[in-house]
Amino acid sequence: TEDVVETDVLVVGSGPAGAAAALLLSELGVDNIMITKYRWTANTPRAHITNQRAMEIFRDLGIEDQVLADATPHDLVGDTVFCTSIAGEEIGRIRTWGTRPDREADYRLASPCLTVDIPQTYLEPILVRNAAVRGTEARFSTEYLSSSQDEDGVRVRVRDRLTGHEYTIRTKYLIGADGARSRVAADAELPYEGAMDIAGSMNITFKADISELVDHRPSVLYWVIQPGSNVGGIGTGLVRMVRPWDEWLIVWGYDIASPPPELDDEMARGIVRDLLGMPELEPEITGYSLWGVNEMYATRLQTGRVFCVGDAVHRHPPSNGLGSNTSIQDSYNLAWKLAAVLRGQADPSLLDSYTDERAPVARRIVTRANRSAREFADIFEALGVVGLEGEEMAAAIEERKAATPAGEAKRAALAKAMETKNYEFNAHGVELGQFYESSAVVSDGTRPAPSRDEDLYHVMSTSPGAHLPHAWVGDNTTRLALMDLAPYHRWTLLTGPTGEAWSEAAEAVSAELGVPLETVVIGPGRPVTDLYFDWAKLREVEESGALLVRPDKHVAWRSTALTDQPVDDLRAAMLQLLGRR
Ligand code: FDA
Repeated sequence: TEDVVETDVLVVGSGPAGAAAALLLSELGVDNIMITKYRWTANTPRAHITNQRAMEIFRDLGIEDQVLADATPHDLVGDTVFCTSIAGEEIGRIRTWGTRPDREADYRLASPCLTVDIPQTYLEPILVRNAAVRGTEARFSTEYLSSSQDEDGVRVRVRDRLTGHEYTIRTKYLIGADGARSRVAADAELPYEGAMDIAGSMNITFKADISELVDHRPSVLYWVIQPGSNVGGIGTGLVRMVRPWDEWLIVWGYDIASPPPELDDEMARGIVRDLLGMPELEPEITGYSLWGVNEMYATRLQTGRVFCVGDAVHRHPPSNGLGSNTSIQDSYNLAWKLAAVLRGQADPSLLDSYTDERAPVARRIVTRANRSAREFADIFEALGVVGLEGEEMAAAIEERKAATPAGEAKRAALAKAMETKNYEFNAHGVELGQFYESSAVVSDGTRPAPSRDEDLYHVMSTSPGAHLPHAWVGDNTTRLALMDLAPYHRWTLLTGPTGEAWSEAAEAVSAELGVPLETVVIGPGRPVTDLYFDWAKLREVEESGALLVRPDKHVAWRSTALTDQPVDDLRAAMLQLLGRR
């Protein structure tokens, strides 16, 4: 007899995408197993910028405090510096991740959470721990080998790497969260556009306390422009804070067309000294590795019962800090849909909306991140250092100080090039503005109407497909974010006092369809009120209107006012959303 383990959902991978998927499924009470190849989670810091949407997911899961406890806080992440070395001359600074007061207003108005920095080495254990506590069977040192699917499920062959024992996991659905070299995606024959390994990069991690050089300009990112910095990599040299201010990661490029450099401690130490501008420094080198810059995304994220999330379907440089964030958000989109289908609340066709909603996001972030990496060329051009090396490069950088027309032109060009970097470091629209068009949204023909640059600025809207806007609500004893009223385990209908009849309608439809759906009436004398009168301005429907919010906080349907037949209208919407008619 064959060894077979059974589950409802098998998750391959314990990175941000996989660990989040397992945690979300367990939160919803879905039986799941998570396997991962290595004995534990990420062993290098990797992704770190954690944006508002990811933080909102942690808030929804009740782990926001755990993440904040291990993160470098918002007020220490922002003074992105450009310099010739850390100890050398500063070329310029830009306030980033929504820390410039005017941008901070945009960020604070759009979300109850702010961007923080938490390396994967700290984040993954939090996700994995909470997943396991809530029900996930986590199997480490377990490798995905192959899979085949039929009408009812997927047979997955795995190997226990401790014993070499191979066995089968029979699962109803398979989630491939196995990273940029995903075997699950390859076996599911997902189609891709773009290319892998378009530039060569190396990571060097080291320890050295350099507080006196950085704590007056606290930041996650210190970009270094010096000879060699325009070769390969992510645009230019980078000294990235891992922990303030004694643990760091350097990203340095190399020419992908040449043989890869053979990194050793001596070479790593040399690069650290050059980028820090501290020739005498004795850093403790803790690791180094080579990696390729990718520009590739899948155009279909699923085949039958197999779904891929995270880097498995979008591969791009760390520019804009979107990797781990988007990976977690993929899982947030998928997990509630799988739960609804497994419980018989939704038709399996609901699952098709995963590709329809997330493939455009994959394309957008891969394109944006690669463009941001290329736009470092604007700074090289502004400084006039393109094609220059050594002394010549230093002289060209020096010219920005000259009291000459050439110096003045260089200063103006530099200021302009710095502005462009807002598209990498303050791209609020890219970070938050994900609008869905699919069968899981009942469109009313509207969409958010941007009045400013769509990549830089997020537009809050309740157009079906948009993310629920943020407003503070509560009463004399509590202050809640609107999103807190619409938890992940149910659908939520939002209305005002004159729309109270929606409550009964929702109760009837919920009971009839067997789908968790609750109404929250916002107004004075109700459980929560619109504390700052913001919601009235944001809701875009009359007080008696209704907004139907999906578990993942996207608006699924809306009615501008109370109708004569709220039960029929709500039922029709729900049936369409769940693919049941
Ligand atoms: P991720 O790659 O994190 O996880 C894949 C998981 O699948 C792992 O748990 C792995 O063990 C498992 N797995 C793979 N194959 C398997 C198999 N056959 N069987 C079982 N399990 C398997 N981003 C950024 O913003 N800043 C940065 O500095 C970096 N640096 C960086 C360095 C390195 C070395 C890498 C590899 C990546 C980065 N990134 C990064 C990218 C960032 O790490 C990435 O976007 C996210 O980790 C994506 O999360 P996923 O969960 O999708 O994949």
